[in-house]
Amino acid sequence: MTVATIDRKRIAELTEAEQERYRNRTGASARTYERAVKSMPNGVPSSFQSNEPWPVYVDRGEGSRVWDVDGNEYVDFHNGFGVMCIGHANPTVGKAVKAQVDRGTHFAAPTDGSIVVAEELQRRFGLPQWRFTNSGTESTMDAVHLARGATGRDTMLKIEGSYHGHHDAVMVSVYPPLEALGDRDDPVSVPYGAGMPRAITDLTRSVPFNDADALAAVLDKIGDQVAGLIMEPAMMNINIVPPREGYLQQVRELTAEHGVKLIFDEVKTGCTIAAGGATERFGVTPDIITLAKASCGGYPGGSVGMTEELAALVADGTVNQYGTFNGNPLVMAAAEATLTQVLTDDVYAHLEQTNRRLLDSCQEIIDSHGLPAYTEGLGAKGCVIFASERMYEYRDYLTKVDDELSTLAWLYHMNHGVFMTPGVEEEWTLSIAHDEDDLQTYVEAFEAFARDVTGG
Ligand SMILES: Cc1ncc(COP(=O)(O)O)c(C=O)c1O
Repeated sequence: MTVATIDRKRIAELTEAEQERYRNRTGASARTYERAVKSMPNGVPSSFQSNEPWPVYVDRGEGSRVWDVDGNEYVDFHNGFGVMCIGHANPTVGKAVKAQVDRGTHFAAPTDGSIVVAEELQRRFGLPQWRFTNSGTESTMDAVHLARGATGRDTMLKIEGSYHGHHDAVMVSVYPPLEALGDRDDPVSVPYGAGMPRAITDLTRSVPFNDADALAAVLDKIGDQVAGLIMEPAMMNINIVPPREGYLQQVRELTAEHGVKLIFDEVKTGCTIAAGGATERFGVTPDIITLAKASCGGYPGGSVGMTEELAALVADGTVNQYGTFNGNPLVMAAAEATLTQVLTDDVYAHLEQTNRRLLDSCQEIIDSHGLPAYTEGLGAKGCVIFASERMYEYRDYLTKVDDELSTLAWLYHMNHGVFMTPGVEEEWTLSIAHDEDDLQTYVEAFEAFARDVTGG
């Protein structure tokens, strides 16, 4: 395949034209934005929902589709940052939640639903004990407490360039700029935004993904101070970077050898890439698993799975795991319906096949136009990565991914009726509602982009 030369002037012109189109299509969103900025920073509830010049404000969703306040219809590949694998307004989940509404929405006392969900997570992920939270952030926060509480050590290790939510212990080296990274074998701990005490930031050290030797070297040096290693088993916040063959097994062995608790942050991979997430898919069981997003079918919940040894520390009050809304009956009703009736084991094969068709179609377009890009996908998750060489870690993402092409592709998608996550680091998430027509909409948008970018 000959790789096309990308004409930067052309990209700039296309970007300007598509931005103009975006502005023209989203007048009602612009007006909503003007109102929203008067009461919310950037006019959004969470900074991840922001984009230039303003976000698309959503009116409603059904199945694979969402409609914005201008009445534009989109096929949704954003899917609420990877949450809505069940499709929007899923009737099965809706029915379960509505039934619970009539039976009371909150007790802060355990209900049967929480036991059913804990049993199902036990079955899927193979860890024996589970507790509930209200978000991915809370899940990873509890995981860090568990690792530190169990080991009596303070230092945490994480993977450079990974996001695990917005609490202090993990807001370190999330998306550090190239000049702040330091040496690859001794990376700098870079706070993710202001408000992070230096002393806390320094307690979290990062290591590169996909490099067991680098991890071994750090553990040989400071292993006796390290409480836990928190990692996404497949990185999903810098597009998708799967683990190299054997890497996770080596990580498991090394952490066990040094008494370091291994935390798989499956907030994105859990319940999307297999029934039992990455833990099932890659066949490596960590000490702690964190879940949220797709696990609760569009309701704000999460969970932490743990070994019996760790659960004993929670049970005897050594490690405090709390939350007024933990195991909320509405969230549990949604999670139970999602996990036992909608995202059943056979559904994952279907999601995988649908994803494969979309990935193959995108790869054909890449090949026929000579785009400097490749496709990556796992389960319901996939993406086109605008890099001519494969990525293995965050430093590749910073140096190899073409931000201009990624941004322009996002604009093409949005302007062609494909709802996608703003920013260059995300991936698409399929739901059970996506059909051939939906895939075709994506493929046509991508084809238009490829044709215009390469001039053919
Ligand atoms: C891997 C990972 N962990 C944790 C989180 C935090 O989850 P939440 O936004 O529910 O707090 C995210 C959010 O995107 C994530 O991608």
